[in-house]
Amino acid sequence: MCGIFGCVLKQGNAAPVIHASLKRLEYRGYDSVGIATISNSEIHVKKDQGKIDDVHKILNLDDLPGTIGIGHTRWATHGAPLKVNAHPHTDCTEQIAVVHNGIIENFSELKFELENRGHVFRSKTDTEVVAHLIEESFKRNPSLSLVDAVLDAVKKIDGSYALAVVSAKEPDKIVCARNESPLVIGVGEDAVYCASDIPAFLPVTNRAVFVNNGELVILSPEGYEIRKIQDASMVTREPKVIDWTPEMAVKQGYPHFMIKEIHEQPETLRNTLRFQEHYLDLISTFLDRAREVFLVACGTSYHACLAASYMFSKLAFLATYPVMASEFIEQHGKSVNIDSTILAVSQSGETADTLAAVTCSQQRAATILGLTNTIGSTLTRVSRVYIGQQSGPEIGVAATKTFTSQLSVLAQLALRLSKKRGKISQDEMDMLEEKLETLPETVETIIMTQEEKVKQIAHKYRDAKIFFFLGRGISTATAYEGRLKLMEIAYVPAIAFPAGESKHGPISLIEEGFPVVFICPRDGCYKTLIGNIMEMKARGASIIAIIEEGDEEIKALANDYVEVPRGIPEVLSPIPFVIPLQLLAYYMALERGHNPDTPRNLAKSVTVK
Ligand code: M6R
Repeated sequence: MCGIFGCVLKQGNAAPVIHASLKRLEYRGYDSVGIATISNSEIHVKKDQGKIDDVHKILNLDDLPGTIGIGHTRWATHGAPLKVNAHPHTDCTEQIAVVHNGIIENFSELKFELENRGHVFRSKTDTEVVAHLIEESFKRNPSLSLVDAVLDAVKKIDGSYALAVVSAKEPDKIVCARNESPLVIGVGEDAVYCASDIPAFLPVTNRAVFVNNGELVILSPEGYEIRKIQDASMVTREPKVIDWTPEMAVKQGYPHFMIKEIHEQPETLRNTLRFQEHYLDLISTFLDRAREVFLVACGTSYHACLAASYMFSKLAFLATYPVMASEFIEQHGKSVNIDSTILAVSQSGETADTLAAVTCSQQRAATILGLTNTIGSTLTRVSRVYIGQQSGPEIGVAATKTFTSQLSVLAQLALRLSKKRGKISQDEMDMLEEKLETLPETVETIIMTQEEKVKQIAHKYRDAKIFFFLGRGISTATAYEGRLKLMEIAYVPAIAFPAGESKHGPISLIEEGFPVVFICPRDGCYKTLIGNIMEMKARGASIIAIIEEGDEEIKALANDYVEVPRGIPEVLSPIPFVIPLQLLAYYMALERGHNPDTPRNLAKSVTVK
């Protein structure tokens, strides 16, 4: 997730406007920043790695000439957060500049072709291909308009993009295009703007035009013009008046970041399915050769590791050991060795306990692999190979979208390894790959159809003193995550166990009305889990069941239930089944009067041991 911005002013200087707008988009990414303006038919660029304020102190981002320009604030997905990878990217002639949010999936092939035609690339980004593709179109047909050259380029691209392009050849316009990544136009009295999000221009105009997938927009001093990418036909769309406060706008109208991020999951899950091939292959090769594999992480990331241990075992017949990073050195510090492989999972890539486990393992010559949301973080620097989970910045302290993205990447890794080892049939592989592809829609459906119901459940149990979360098999990880969310956000004490363990002790807590949440996918554990539900029910527990749609057997036993779509394979089930639990924690926090974004005593990134 990055932020793009562009403006065409009738008068004045574009650079300070772009700089101020990028500041308002900084929540979308903050590892590098850049601006390109046009003046006297020449493109002027300033860019560097680092936060906007730091870069501004050195470069003075306001000091660029011209009334037209584009800007970018970056959250690295491909290519480290270095100056050379900062946007805008230019073509060989430096006549075209491009900013981009999204992921171009076929960039390697396009880059290869363009390099064969003599184009010289400076960065490691996917975005740079766009500048060269446009240059190539102009080379072939010098009389082409910028709009036609951009149309040519975007038709060759697979993946997601919100693009803004300027060219010294047509210095009076910005051409933008959208597929999947957000893009919105702001219409002011004396200016038009394009941006990833409304807050970028909200202080200067509240008239916005939303750009749809497959559309291209031309911004000029005359205003804006929308065309369809497919056939260049014109689209008429009037601006809408946005009555959000700037604070609401940053959260896209949601009251809190946590709920915004829960709702972003269909999009973030889609992103995990792009662009990973090479890294999945590399990491699964290391896992394949490893003698012993530790999955090391803290908090929510640890729960992703726990789920992954079931995935690796069931799909690739690989035994892995999920370990809480804070315990790793005590438990394994002496035995870890050159034959050990550590897959460290950390959203921030900066968690002190995880890094300490990694350092200890590294000193003992183990192989370090990483999965993180933060390219450029310490974890990416100490890993032999790492993979980016591509969730974009997560602002809410509670991990939500980053958890489901970790699960998706880990499932893909397990599948890749399974393929290498020939452990499951082609039919099963095809089915699992297809289900992974449709998970974003599944999650969308759950949010759309079940949110209200979860809200009511939260209201009903708002005064509960304690909660139980139970699941069997891979759903144990889902239960643990549901418990952690409820505790950290709503401050409700909660206990989670593999359901089979509850009768070895915890069941003694149960009395009339005690809320017990059961995670109930129709997997191999289903029948036994029903037995566990009965045990709890017989002792007066109030059963809240997360079930597959139409599961009449459990519906008949439960006091309350939330449904997720049917037919989700066991190994992927934590992704959809955790969504109602995230919503439950969120609405319980609201019911109990707490701000879910800033739970007490916690920090987003725990950098002390
Ligand atoms: O950045 P990391 O994934 O390494 O963070 C690990 C935990 O600190 C984190 O998951 C924490 O438990 C969250 N508050 C959970 O919502």
